[in-house]
Amino acid sequence: MKIVERLAELALLGATREGIDRALFTPEEYAARERFAAWARADGFAVEQDRVGNVFVRLAGTESLPPVQTGSHLDTVKDGGAYDGACGVVGGLEALRLIAARSERPRHPIEVVAWAGEEGSRFPIGTLGSSVYAGITPYAEAAALVADDGAIFADAFAGPSGKLAGVPVRDDFPAPAAYVELHIEQGPVMERSGARLGIVTAIAGQRRYSVRISGTPGHAGTIPMSMRSDALAAAADLILAVEAAGRAHPDSVATVGRLIVEPNQTNIVPGVVSLRIDSRSVEDERIDAMDRAFREAAERIRAARRVRIDLTILESRAAAPMSAALRAAVATVCDALDPGAIALPSGAGHDAMCIAQIAPTAMIFVPSIRGESHVGTERTAPADLELGVEALAASLLAVDRDPALTLA
Ligand code: GLV
Ligand code: MN
Ligand code: MN
Repeated sequence: MKIVERLAELALLGATREGIDRALFTPEEYAARERFAAWARADGFAVEQDRVGNVFVRLAGTESLPPVQTGSHLDTVKDGGAYDGACGVVGGLEALRLIAARSERPRHPIEVVAWAGEEGSRFPIGTLGSSVYAGITPYAEAAALVADDGAIFADAFAGPSGKLAGVPVRDDFPAPAAYVELHIEQGPVMERSGARLGIVTAIAGQRRYSVRISGTPGHAGTIPMSMRSDALAAAADLILAVEAAGRAHPDSVATVGRLIVEPNQTNIVPGVVSLRIDSRSVEDERIDAMDRAFREAAERIRAARRVRIDLTILESRAAAPMSAALRAAVATVCDALDPGAIALPSGAGHDAMCIAQIAPTAMIFVPSIRGESHVGTERTAPADLELGVEALAASLLAVDRDPALTLA
């Protein structure tokens, strides 16, 4: 079955009117991991999982070496698309099949990993599975995470939509010798330049915050404007300050994409607002500068509006430059397949940013039609997906052959 057909099949799991909803450890997301495991087994590969839900598929190598690894994620944002993450998992499996079909066996085991919970769309931390695997998030911290719906991570993993039935669980998977991830670009740069393959230079770092603004609820008709502590009006001020901090430098972005108002009634002055901030830059200093701007704004708004503002960092990921040697090797492979390949940074987060902390890491992008992503209309041309798979397979083989590209 071709990558496009497999992606179409996965897209049915969690399909909504607007797109796809496959949050970690929901029945829909379980079904996607199960389908991936079934395809891998049918292709003759070993399948295992760890205790956070990462699924490892492996082709054995001829030598006793750590794996050359690829992977991405099968969870989606709410009403997300069929390609974000799934492209790298299904494409990884396709690359593994191409490698297995050759007469010559690779020296390293070649591994495709479906990383659990990349989006952070249910539990409050993104790139969760790869972060635990890379030792960035301690397992105990992940196990205790509480989802937006109140579920506790360890319980959800132990429940019917967590651990895959019939797949061995281990917690001692070694770090990879090197990692190359295939992903859609999720932006318009490649399409605009006509490139069909992209080599990522660096992945933007990101910091996510949870903010709780507490004012005083009351009757919307009787409390004079001068006597209010309106949590939503305070949130509006903070949101504009977040936007201004993101706009302050061309290399940074900052977003408030989630807001909960209590009690959320027309005739009650809002008492509490909970919101999340997502800030990103390829330069860590910019993330720190935005952090200062958010805190200064919170201080100012607190004083001016007589509200309480509690700001907590949920997740902080450093900007991740890709390995120069691996990038060069991937660029050579891509150029040979399609001479128009370009180098570009990634504003989106990826599991590769966690793996880059423990192994030489690179990423290959394929173009997104109209730059659309995190929406149901997200697409990549079938021929570009197939080219991406070829580039991935050839890159994994190039890494397998060259000891200079892997950890000693
Ligand atoms: C994941 O898609 C992210 O960049 O937030
Ligand atoms: Mn993704
Ligand atoms: Mn995403």
